[in-house]
Amino acid sequence: MRRKSLSQYLTEQVRAGAATPELMQLVEQVAEACVSIGALVDKGALANMLGSARTENVQGETQKTLDVISNDLLIAATEWTGVLAALVSEEMEAPYQIPDTYPKGPYLLLFDPLDGSSNIDVNISIGTIFSVLECPKGVSKPDVAAFMQPGSKQVAAGFVVYGPSTLMVLTVGRGVVGFTLDRYPGTFVVTQEKVSIPADTSEFAINASNMRNWEAPVTRYIDECLAGKTGARGRDFNMRWVASMVADVYRTLWRGGIFMYPKDAKHKEGRLRLMYEANPMSFIVEQAGGAASDGRRRILDIQPTGLHQRVGVILGSKNEVERVSAYHSA
Ligand code: AHG
Ligand code: MN
Ligand code: MN
Repeated sequence: MRRKSLSQYLTEQVRAGAATPELMQLVEQVAEACVSIGALVDKGALANMLGSARTENVQGETQKTLDVISNDLLIAATEWTGVLAALVSEEMEAPYQIPDTYPKGPYLLLFDPLDGSSNIDVNISIGTIFSVLECPKGVSKPDVAAFMQPGSKQVAAGFVVYGPSTLMVLTVGRGVVGFTLDRYPGTFVVTQEKVSIPADTSEFAINASNMRNWEAPVTRYIDECLAGKTGARGRDFNMRWVASMVADVYRTLWRGGIFMYPKDAKHKEGRLRLMYEANPMSFIVEQAGGAASDGRRRILDIQPTGLHQRVGVILGSKNEVERVSAYHSA
């Protein structure tokens, strides 16, 4: 039986009024860039793609070669479309203005071109995360202020995992759909019509090396998970930590779980970036029936104050996220 392509899925969303033709074109072009990024990830050392670019990004992090190339591929695949007003990337300090040689359009694109960079050289799944906002009306040269919109204003969000399979997860606000890359035509096809996160879980994901820095509610929650059936939870828990948000969130979407990178004594604002990591992932998780909080606030309600601001992230199975949030307000 023929599987539905990304184009067919997006065409159906346009027909249903859930997306515009311009949004369809933007998502298709982001997907095209991700196919190219995936091909480079696949080649690894054979394409001289590993190692450091010996440059630093706005985060003060040393950029990997693939961070920089992925960033450039996403710009090259989208800047000419005429549907973008500007774009923002983890790898660039300021918004990227669309060159005057191209027409502009109604959308703002934000992305983490390569998520999980510390895993590139050790052959662990990495990915690309993207978010789409509408450009405020009448703004012809979007500056930072144009991007300062809460995550609830996103019109689309998605991510791709370059793993054993290259997979894409997408929402345009009408649920979450999973796609698998069929490498040889190079097209993403629907392989999960409706992604929904189990409300309960017995699996948590956190970088336990930060334990001594955690706030009390997080320590309480993890201690209870570790106590398992001998403690307050009455059941044993499992732990996973890939250190690629895309891989940890994909697993959480598919089999349930709670993914946590809370702010702590070392990461005072949190580790993950609001605009192009937490917001797109939170939009997807909520559309899949899960929840996403920083422990005290719904992530999608947070009013941004900077393009690269960081935030604590606790997302996944609704009942567990709500439990951690309750511990924060206890
Ligand atoms: P990026 O490679 O884009 O900087 O993102 C890495 C993030 C995220 O993918 C992951 O969950 C987290 O960093 C892992 O942080 P630790 O290495 O501190 O565990
Ligand atoms: Mn990232
Ligand atoms: Mn990154």
